[in-house]
This record gives sequence, structure tokens and C-alpha cells, in this order.
Amino acid sequence: MAQKTASKKAPISSPLGDQDREITGKILQGTLLDLIDLHLMAKQAHWNVVGNFFRDVHLQLDELVAKARGFADDVAERAAAIGISPDGRAATVAEGSGLPKFDPDWRSDHEVIEAVVQALAELLRRLRARIDETDKTDLVSQDLLIGISREMEKAHWMWQAQLAAA
Ligand SMILES: [Fe+2]
Repeated sequence: MAQKTASKKAPISSPLGDQDREITGKILQGTLLDLIDLHLMAKQAHWNVVGNFFRDVHLQLDELVAKARGFADDVAERAAAIGISPDGRAATVAEGSGLPKFDPDWRSDHEVIEAVVQALAELLRRLRARIDETDKTDLVSQDLLIGISREMEKAHWMWQAQLAAA
């Protein structure tokens, strides 16, 4: 039986050079963790929201879950396409997500809306920085991050609109 060699050949080739691949891979991995965390937070809120606007908020949260899940998949698959193994395990998300923590237990509709607005603001701040970083390393990944930002900025507006006084 042949012995495994110490230097394992990467199974997926990359369209990027080593340095660009490494920097872009870290950016995509970080984005993946934030998006998985957002999806879990939105589901937690979907189950725990109470108040006069229960139904609207409950349903709007599931729209956010679907968006975050879909984008997490896009980002993970982009990482794979540049030869980076995506890591979306629960422990990795708990350790590496940059989004604010969401408290357990029942939460009022107003509290939930505020928490979602804050989480989206932080996600968007991090995405803007990552868009800048990918400008030099990989325009295709940058294009994906721009598309995600466009949709999430729209969601951020819609959630903020619920807090604003008429
Ligand atoms: Fe549900």
C-alpha cells in the first residue's frame, strides 16, 4: 500500500494565484459565517417574536432566512470554485461570526426589529470592507459580494422603515 505523501495535492484547482486565493478565501469564509449566523438568528427570532405585529414580523423574518441561506450557499460555492474548502460547521460559526449576539427567550416585535436592523447594519459594514479588499484579489468574488450587499441593503431599509415614525 502506497504511503500518503506529506504534501497533499489540492483537489480543486484555482483560477487565482496563491496569494489572491488565500486572501479571497478568508473573505468568503468570513462572509459565510456571518450569513449562516444571520440565518440562525432570523429563525430564532421567527419562533420567539411576540406582540401586535407578530404576523408581519414572523413572515418577514422567514424572507430574511431564505435570503441569508441562499447567499450563504452562493458564498460557500464561490469559495469552493476558487479552491478553498468552505467551513460552515456550527462551532466555526459560533466562534467566527462577527454579528451581534441575539438573546434567547420571547422577544417583543419592536426588540426583534431593532436586533435585525443592527445585525444587518453590521453585516453590511463588513461586506463593504470586503468589497474593497476583493478589488485587488478577485473581481468575480467582489461581484458576488456586491450583489449580496444590494439585496441586504434593501432588506435593511425595509426593516428600518418599520421603526421610523410616520
Ligand atoms: Fe416557520
